[in-house]
Amino acid sequence: MLTRIKDLATKLAPRLIEIRRHIHSHPELSGEEYQTAAFVAGVLSANGVHVQEGIGKTGVVGEVQGTNSDSRLLAIRTDMDALPIQERTNLEYASRKAGIMHACGHDVHTTVGLGTAMILSQIADELPGNVRFLFQPAEETAVGASWMIQDRVMEEVTSVLSLHVFPSIEAGSVGIRYGALTAAADDLEIIIVGESGHGARPHEAIDAIWIAAQVITTLQQAISRTQNPLRPLVLSIGQINGGRAPNIIADQVKLRGTVRSLHPETRTNLPAWITQIVSNICDCYGARYQVNYRPGTPGVQNDLALSQLLQTAAEEAWGSDRVLVLPEPSLGAEDFSLYLEHAPGAMFRLGVGYKDRAVNHPLHHPQFDVDESAIVTGVVTLAYSAYKYWQ
Ligand code: NI
Repeated sequence: MLTRIKDLATKLAPRLIEIRRHIHSHPELSGEEYQTAAFVAGVLSANGVHVQEGIGKTGVVGEVQGTNSDSRLLAIRTDMDALPIQERTNLEYASRKAGIMHACGHDVHTTVGLGTAMILSQIADELPGNVRFLFQPAEETAVGASWMIQDRVMEEVTSVLSLHVFPSIEAGSVGIRYGALTAAADDLEIIIVGESGHGARPHEAIDAIWIAAQVITTLQQAISRTQNPLRPLVLSIGQINGGRAPNIIADQVKLRGTVRSLHPETRTNLPAWITQIVSNICDCYGARYQVNYRPGTPGVQNDLALSQLLQTAAEEAWGSDRVLVLPEPSLGAEDFSLYLEHAPGAMFRLGVGYKDRAVNHPLHHPQFDVDESAIVTGVVTLAYSAYKYWQ
């Protein structure tokens, strides 16, 4: 079966590159993937895959029907949205839309999803169960997965697989990660309320800027002194607003930031931990405060058995020297985690770096580029993993 899948993928390669270039040159922002979705639905239908459009607003669901001798249902999720970035690659198939670019490789993900669906539909009589393809919108804004799930795409799904391109891994190789793959990403807002006064007479006021400075410093120091150093935690205040004039003591400061953590236990304790620090500092100087901790996407926890499935399939397909078991997770965020609240799953990293280039630009860079040979690597890895899922 591996040889058959590889042959099918090799034959499809020129078409898949065409598909990828089409999607790349017509990028659409999160939640606006109308043309991409219509294009995806067209390719799926043309290949005999049962399609539903308008799922999760601008998402598409395709289903390849197996022989039904096994009730397990495998889902394969790919994302379709682009970013508000002006492309600077000079490629002939560069974005034709000003200020919008597929700089996170979701054009490759969509293509790999389509290629996998095309191959599995050709070997459907060898699949005991069904494979559901989830073409998700709005991953970059972290809302697309929940739109899809609200439209019940996870009903009956027993496992879910996905991928993300990775420029620092060479094309032709894949990265497998067991356990934590990405971090939980939460939003933090702290409002500190003091009392205004003359800059020359600070003792008659409550200086919200000075207190905010202490809150920021203490939070960073407290990570080092009160959080388990073996459980990563990053707290970045990226926005600070307050004050009216140089000679008026500010009565209010608003801080906004992002909090990234890997361990569910660390995350559970964060709102109380932050509030305690803010509260103690504010109490010292008579300020009032408000802490708004908004949970965002949880971290992706790869299922061990499914990571093993991906690793075995990839090793059989490409040899063990082209399969890297990644020692570290990333503190980035990925809304694939929301599907994992409904079924176990695993995401692998697809190497897209050019072997002979000194610099492979990172994700979200205006010159981000991929070695397109990785598309076949991704398609074979996923299609063969799907086949092996029931073996
Ligand atoms: Ni991405």
